[in-house]
Amino acid sequence: MSKGTYYITTPIYYPSSKLHIGHTYTTVAADAMARFKRATGYDVKFLTGTDEHGQKLQRAAEEKGLKPKEYIDDIVEGIKKLWETMEISYDIFIRTTDDYHKRRVQEIFKKLYEKGDIYKGEYEGWYCTPCEAFWTETQVTEGKCPDCGRPVELTKEESYFFRLSKYQDALLKHFEENPEFLEPASRKNEMINNFLKPGLEDLCISRTSFNWGIPVPIDEKHVIYVWLDALSNYITALGYPEEQEGDYQKYWPADVHLVGKEIVRFHTIIWPAMLMALEIPLPKKVFGHGWILLEGGKMSKSKGNVVDPVVLSERYGVDALKYFLLREYSFGQDGIFTNEVLLNRINSDLANDLGNLVSRTVAMIDKYNGGIIPEPKVDGAFDEDLKNIAISVSTKLEEKMNKLDFSNALEEIWKLVRRTNKYIDETAPWVLAKDDANKNRLDTVLYNLADCIRIISVLIQPFMHSTTRKIWVQLGIDHGQGTEWNDTFHFGKLPAGVKVNKQEALFPRIDIAKELEALVAASGAKEEVQPKEEEKPLEIKPEILYDDFAKLDLRVGEVLECKKHPKADKLLVLQVKLGSETRQIVSGIAQHFKPEELVGKKVVVVVNLKPVVLRGEESRGMILSAEADGRLSLVTADAESGAEVR
Ligand code: MSP
Repeated sequence: MSKGTYYITTPIYYPSSKLHIGHTYTTVAADAMARFKRATGYDVKFLTGTDEHGQKLQRAAEEKGLKPKEYIDDIVEGIKKLWETMEISYDIFIRTTDDYHKRRVQEIFKKLYEKGDIYKGEYEGWYCTPCEAFWTETQVTEGKCPDCGRPVELTKEESYFFRLSKYQDALLKHFEENPEFLEPASRKNEMINNFLKPGLEDLCISRTSFNWGIPVPIDEKHVIYVWLDALSNYITALGYPEEQEGDYQKYWPADVHLVGKEIVRFHTIIWPAMLMALEIPLPKKVFGHGWILLEGGKMSKSKGNVVDPVVLSERYGVDALKYFLLREYSFGQDGIFTNEVLLNRINSDLANDLGNLVSRTVAMIDKYNGGIIPEPKVDGAFDEDLKNIAISVSTKLEEKMNKLDFSNALEEIWKLVRRTNKYIDETAPWVLAKDDANKNRLDTVLYNLADCIRIISVLIQPFMHSTTRKIWVQLGIDHGQGTEWNDTFHFGKLPAGVKVNKQEALFPRIDIAKELEALVAASGAKEEVQPKEEEKPLEIKPEILYDDFAKLDLRVGEVLECKKHPKADKLLVLQVKLGSETRQIVSGIAQHFKPEELVGKKVVVVVNLKPVVLRGEESRGMILSAEADGRLSLVTADAESGAEVR
C-alpha cells in the first residue's frame, strides 16, 4: 500500500546544447530522491522539462538563421537523450512549447487578470536578457545585472503588471510561519532581508519588443513574461487549471521544488505570490542547492577539466558520476570540481571500498565453499556489532534523505561498507579455512559478508541502480530475494544455497596520473594543468593498499593526566581516556610540551600497536604528531574520546 504521494520537480532547463555536470546536478539529485521515495513506498511524480520561450532563445535562433522552434527542437532531443544516458527516472517531461502548457498558462493569465491582480501599465526599467529578469534603477549597479554581472538593457514598453507588492506581507508571514518552506535556512535570510523587507514592486509580466512567447490571451501583441510562463509548468504539467480532478488534485502541492541557488528568488517570491493570487496551496518546500564551480570560476569556462556529463559517464559509468556528484558535495553549498577529486572519489569509495568488498567476498565464497552461499552456523566475535550496524543503516539513511542531505545519506551506507571490510580483516576467513574444525564458523562469516552486501545493494539503489543489479548478479539473487527496502531492516534475508557468479570488478581501479593526462588531452587544454615548475613531488613511502591502512586502529583520546618520565628526560607519561578505558602511553615529546599543556587535549592515538615498556613504564599506544623544522604539533580531533579516526 502506498505511503502517500510525493511530487518532486527540477527546474525546467533552458535549451542549451552544452549542458555540463553542474546542470545535471539538480536532475541527478531529484532522480535519487524520486527513486528513494518510490523504494520506500510512495506514489511519486517526478517532473522535469525545458523552458523554451524568451528573448534569449529568439536571439540565439536568429543568429543561426532559424525559427526558434526549429532551433530548439534538436537541442531538446539532446537534453532528453542526456537524461536517458544518465538514467533519470522522470515521469513527466514538459516543454513550455507544448500546446497544453500554452493553453493553461493563458488560462492562468486570464484568472489573474479577472481577479484584478494583473493590470496594464508602462514598464520603464532595466532588463537582463541572459537571466530574463527585470531590475529597478536602484538594483542595477554600473549598468550590470545584480545576479549575473552582465550588462542590462534599458527597456520602455507598454506592459501588463502582476500585483506582486500586494503579497509582500503574506509572503513574509509565510516565511515566518513555515521555517521548512525554504532550505537551507541561510537562503531564507537573503530573501527576507534583500527582497521582502525592502519592499516588493509590481512585476512586469508581458513584453512587446519580441514575440517568442505565449501570447497574452486578451492582447495578442504582448507575450507573457518567460518566468510566469516557466514557473506555471509545475501545475500545468498536472492539468491545472483545466483538469483539477486528476493528477493536480492528487499531487499538488509539490513536496519539493529542487532549484539552484540563483533561481531561489523566482521560486520563493514570485511563484508563491502567483499561487496566492490563484488561491491555491504553496509548495511544501523549495530547496536551493549550491553550485558546482571550477577553481577560479564558473563551469562554462572549463580549462582542462572535463565537465561534459556524457564524456564522464562514458569513461567511468553513470553510477560513478551520480555517486560522485551526490557524495562529494554538500547539497546546500557550493563546491569545486576538478578531474582529480572525481577520480580520487571513484577510486577510494567505489573501486576500493565497495568494489573490493564485493569481489573479495564472492572470491572467498568461490574458494572456500564451491561458490555456494553457505548457511550461517556459529556466531562469533564481531558478528553482533556488524549486524547491529547493518540493520540500523536504513533508518539513518531515511533520516538524511528526508532532509535532502544526500552526501551524509551515502556516508551512512559507506559506514557499513567499511565496517564489513573491517569484518573480513577481523575474522580472517583465510585463516579459518586452514582448519576443517573451523568450517562452521567460516560458513557464518561468509554468509554474514554476503548478507551485508545484500543490504548495501538495496540501499544504494536510489543512487546507482545499475550497480545494485550487478551486485545481485554476483550474489546470484534476483528481485524479491531479500531485495525490498523493508528487507534492509533485517539480517539474514539472503537465501543460503544460491550460487554466486564472479564477474569483473564493479569499478575498475583508475590509474589516476595516467587518466588525468588523458582527460587533459580530451579537454584540449594541456598547458593549463601542467604542474608548475617550482612544484616538486613529495618524497613518499611506497604505495600501500587500503587493507594495509585499515589494519591501523586510530582513536581519539583525551589526555587526563601527564607527567615527566621519572627516568628519561625526553619522555612524558600520559594517562589517556579512550572511550570506556583509560590507558598509559609513553611519548617522546617532552622537549616540545610541558606536561600541564597537554591535559584536556584530544589527541589521535594508534591503539593497536603492540605494548612496549620504555625505561620501566608500560606504553599501550602511540600519540600522533606532525613535525616540521624541528617544531612538533600534536594531531588533535574535535570528537568524543574513543571515536574511530579514518
Ligand atoms: N529555465 C530556468 C529555470 C526555470 S524553472 C521554472 C533555468 N534553467 S537553467 O538551464 O539555467 O538551469 C537549470 C538548473 O541547473 C538550475 O537549477 C541551475 O541552478 C542548475 N545549474 C546550472 N549550472 C550549475 C552549476 N554549475 N552547479 C549546480 N547547478 C547549476 O534556470
